[in-house]
Amino acid sequence: MKILGIETSCDDTSVAIYDEKLGLVFHSTLNQNKVHAPFHGIVPELAARSHLEKLILLVKKVVLKFSIDMKLGVHSGVLNAIAYTTGPGLVGSLLVGATIACSLSFSLGIPCILVNHLEGHLLSFMLNNTKDTFPFLVLLVSGAHTQLIDAQRLGKYSILGDTLDDSVGNIFDYIARLLGLGYPGGKKLSNLAKHGWSGKYFFPRPMTKYPNLNFSFSGLKTHVKNVILSSSGSCQEKANIAKAFEEAVVDTLVIKCELALRKTNLRNILVCGGVSSNSLLRKKLKFLTRSYNGRFIVSKKKFCTDNAAMIAYVGFLRYKLGLYFEDTLISVHPNLLINDMI
Ligand code: KG4
Ligand code: ZN
Repeated sequence: MKILGIETSCDDTSVAIYDEKLGLVFHSTLNQNKVHAPFHGIVPELAARSHLEKLILLVKKVVLKFSIDMKLGVHSGVLNAIAYTTGPGLVGSLLVGATIACSLSFSLGIPCILVNHLEGHLLSFMLNNTKDTFPFLVLLVSGAHTQLIDAQRLGKYSILGDTLDDSVGNIFDYIARLLGLGYPGGKKLSNLAKHGWSGKYFFPRPMTKYPNLNFSFSGLKTHVKNVILSSSGSCQEKANIAKAFEEAVVDTLVIKCELALRKTNLRNILVCGGVSSNSLLRKKLKFLTRSYNGRFIVSKKKFCTDNAAMIAYVGFLRYKLGLYFEDTLISVHPNLLINDMI
């Protein structure tokens, strides 16, 4: 059984095929960094247009590589279903993926499967690791989300804590921009932090004195911005600030994860989303999990940021469970939550 996955929720255009026996047999992602860099952030209208161009290129690549005969449809036996990201995300971007997925499903006579992008992030580790099983405490950290989730079993998720303002990915990108690192800046900021001197700056760990599991990063963002504006602007100063900033953010996330472990019966920590590729965060969460005799679970770095492999994989799970519609259905949910039913 083979499932084609399509991901276009934000600014990465990605297509993948997951095969029940062989695993991931195709995966290709085109980013839009060049399109959005001049604006220092994602421009939704440009993102949707760029998806349209890039997705058609990627779909053509798949059709050629797997000799998919558009006329024979399901009888060609190559694909069983098409999974696409239904949300959350930018409405225009989601609509491009949904429309192309549904057009293909209609012409091939195979079902469409709606996939929650957040569940994709959450289960992406399973692309390489099927031995770790539920339950998990999930730290979902991406460009749009900063959440703590109690994942009891497949499809049973409850949100324990959320950000009250900015997401972690968002502040990494914002501070990176102020440091002149360009967009997207999370990874570049983390690389710069490696050259910083410890103890030159110390930034607050917001909300860590409160006994709840919510986050708030807007105060830290302003604080670091003021420090950058009053600093000398030398390369070393920038690296020192990047180091102190990364440490403050990572410590905040780790402190809240520990609180969540104490408040629940959970012991295993799963971290996912674009920011989960951050090496310091991985190192500190691994250490925390060990001290609670739990397991630390994280995807390969290439599956941390947005990708269609995770969408094809969740599509495969939903197909096996019969969680799809026989009729072609264009349906997008820009504000979908991890625990929403689709
Ligand atoms: O999950 P993702 O690809 O997109 C969303 O669904 O939002 O996450 C993208 C975010 C960006 O904000 C990017 O700067 C951040 O992940 N990111 C990182 C690192 N790699 C990517 N942040 C910190 N450290 C990294 N190594
Ligand atoms: Zn994402």
